[in-house]
Amino acid sequence: MSIKFKEVGYTYSPKTPYQYEALKDITVDIDEHKIVAVIGETGSGKSTLVQHINGLLIPMTGTVSINDFIIKANQKKIRDIKKIRKQIGLVFQFPEYQLFEETIERDIMFGPVNFGEKKDVARDLAKKYIKVVGLDKSYLPRSPFDLSGGQKRRVAIAGILALQGHTLILDEPTAGLDPDGEKELIKLFYDLNHKENKTIILVTHNMNHVLMVADEVIVLHNTKIYKKADPITIFRDQQLIAETGIEPPKVYSFLYKLEAAGFDTSKINARSTSELIEQLEQILAKNDKKK
Ligand SMILES: Nc1ncnc2c1ncn2[C@@H]1O[C@H](COP(=O)(O)OP(=O)(O)OP(=O)(O)O)[C@@H](O)[C@H]1O
Ligand SMILES: [Mg+2]
Repeated sequence: MSIKFKEVGYTYSPKTPYQYEALKDITVDIDEHKIVAVIGETGSGKSTLVQHINGLLIPMTGTVSINDFIIKANQKKIRDIKKIRKQIGLVFQFPEYQLFEETIERDIMFGPVNFGEKKDVARDLAKKYIKVVGLDKSYLPRSPFDLSGGQKRRVAIAGILALQGHTLILDEPTAGLDPDGEKELIKLFYDLNHKENKTIILVTHNMNHVLMVADEVIVLHNTKIYKKADPITIFRDQQLIAETGIEPPKVYSFLYKLEAAGFDTSKINARSTSELIEQLEQILAKNDKKK
């Protein structure tokens, strides 16, 4: 499976006074079986970009291809779009608005049934995926509207997982959650990638998460791709940080200070504060030996 953007452009409300060019000349490959983070300032086009991946938005210039399936600019009707939507699930920026059924069970079953699964199978999927997202099956008969924000989000994610596609797009899935809730969800995405081999496309403002789990990072800036690289290359690039207005992860804010103080940080490749402490201790121990 491969997702390729070729010279994609997108303008909202074209030929009206509200016309707004949100994406320009986007050429990028999204690698399968990886965790790919999409980052950039607010309004840089992240949500617009990812909505092209499952045909929710149609490019106005260029093409988006998913394997042999090609979405061309301004294409009116996309044949077999359902197949793409089943394989590439999108959890919106505020997924709680995706919930609408009377019970959580029916909400999770909705997608699979809509894509042709028998009700019994869909019910089993609901049982399975409510657990995967960290809730138990006692929730199934309850109303989705009585849940906390974080729980609603888990139910919305369970509904997309129940489609059993190969790719999961998550637009700001942890925004507004408490730190424990954030950690649990990030671990869920990590496990879905590492244990079930799913491609995860994660739009987020949380750079600590990006550093922790992403294999690749796509940086959007002023409607364009600024850079695509692994997270360590991205966060080492202080010019990128300055130019794109991205707030670096905690580990890197600290590394920049160490560098400014003359400390050689070139051997450090920590992805979390605990890894950073470990690596710094090793460097300091070596320095002690040398003395
Ligand atoms: N329906 C719309 N009509 C007109 N302009 C829009 C619409 N949706 C988004 N835009 C504009 O397009 C630009 C890109 O929006 P987009 O939602 O893709 O940004 P984003 O990077 O996801 O931002 P955020 O981090 O705030 O979610 C923004 O300037 C936004 O105001
Ligand atoms: Mg957005």
